[in-house]
Amino acid sequence: MFSKHANRINRFVCASKHYATQSKILVDKPIVEIDGDEMTKLIFDEIKAKLVFPFVEVKRDYYDCSITNRNQTQNQVSRDAAAAILKHNVGVKCSTITPDEERVKEFNLTQMWPSPNGMIRNALNGTQFRESIIFKNVNKYVPGWTKPIIMGRHTFGDQYGGKDVTIKKPSKIFITIKSDDGTEDSVEAFSYKGKGVAMLTFNTEDSIRSFAVSCFRMALERNYPLYFATKSTLLKQYDKLFNEVFLDVYEKDFKTQFEHANLTFELRLIDDMAAQAMKSSGGFLWALKSYDGDVLSDVVGQGFGSMGLMIHSLVSHDGKTVMTEPAHGTVTRHYREHQKGVTTSTNPISSIFAWSRGLQHRAKLDGNAQLENFSKALEKATVGTVEDGLVTKDLAPCVYGKEFKDKFLSTSEFIDEVVKRLK
Ligand SMILES: NC(=O)c1ccc[n+]([C@@H]2O[C@H](COP(=O)([O-])OP(=O)(O)OC[C@H]3O[C@@H](n4cnc5c(N)ncnc54)[C@H](O)[C@@H]3O)[C@@H](O)[C@H]2O)c1
Repeated sequence: MFSKHANRINRFVCASKHYATQSKILVDKPIVEIDGDEMTKLIFDEIKAKLVFPFVEVKRDYYDCSITNRNQTQNQVSRDAAAAILKHNVGVKCSTITPDEERVKEFNLTQMWPSPNGMIRNALNGTQFRESIIFKNVNKYVPGWTKPIIMGRHTFGDQYGGKDVTIKKPSKIFITIKSDDGTEDSVEAFSYKGKGVAMLTFNTEDSIRSFAVSCFRMALERNYPLYFATKSTLLKQYDKLFNEVFLDVYEKDFKTQFEHANLTFELRLIDDMAAQAMKSSGGFLWALKSYDGDVLSDVVGQGFGSMGLMIHSLVSHDGKTVMTEPAHGTVTRHYREHQKGVTTSTNPISSIFAWSRGLQHRAKLDGNAQLENFSKALEKATVGTVEDGLVTKDLAPCVYGKEFKDKFLSTSEFIDEVVKRLK
């Protein structure tokens, strides 16, 4: 099997004068591979076997973050995976189950283990970028979006690190700040006449600064204007700090470069920006706080056609470390069908791009032109497959309209078509 693929790669290699005649592209430094769960794990296995390892000789620092192995290792495997990404600077992660009560029963878990993503995000202290792949023949739910919209999401604090509590009886709630110098300050937040709920969220100036730097860097790299949107008219302390830090970073470190590149940076109100984005043709970087980015990047992903078409990467603020992963979860609904023996049509594109973008970052760090060209060829073959009208079920209505019945391939058939176009 390898020699058959080696021939393919030789032909592919000859198309570019940069390529040597070796049968596989050699990669000196490792990538960290983080395995996961359910349908996405099966898709990853097929991508590795058919689209990556027949063409690329790369050492893998492998971590099995499936829910069963996280349970067996008391989640040590997630900590090890996060440390390995920081060491090797490139990680490719499969989607993983974040357990709830039902999953605890299903897998007989000793604890409701947290998602490895949170651990990795905190370790990288970076920004999550999401961007849709645009295909000529895929009709978008928002037809005016002809250029990409890159979503930059802060990945520290806010609701994801916050505390929420239930108020069971008439009570008063306070925010108390106990400073290290022994001083104390308390603010009454609300007085309850009956039952209710409360939540406290937090953030740090350092983390906001890292986030801002990542966003300015990405805007320059992609030559896109940057908008940072908050609700600063309402959250006059919280969102004000975000705005102040973004402005400070811009004035001190990026204004000259932005002016030189003829790019703009604007602070916007989130509701105004959401309305503007719908009317726009795309072609900008939209930076958001964590929860806003979580919600709006799904809205934008779906607006471009399908969540299965999104590229997703986590970038450290210095741009050196990148972890890529599919933009969707483990697609449990399809996995249940697979468990019954039904052939599924799950879109593997976001997973293919997780691999291509991970390899691209390795190529950039190592100055490996062959690897860079291969990763771009893999993306081109994937886009070509869709533009030849060969799609999975989720995309069929976007390509064929209401008459899409039977005009789609299974996941394996789609991957096989990509392999043919890599020849
Ligand atoms: N980054 C991650 O690791 C991550 C992210 C989200 C969810 N999850 C986990 O994934 C599991 C399933 O979560 P979920 O069902 O809410 O989200 P999901 O993204 O796996 O699927 C939601 C729905 O979106 C559609 N969909 C998603 N990806 C698709 C694809 N590639 N092709 C076709 N259709 C697709 C399907 O209709 C699916 O039922 C949960 O255990 C959750 O914790 C993991």
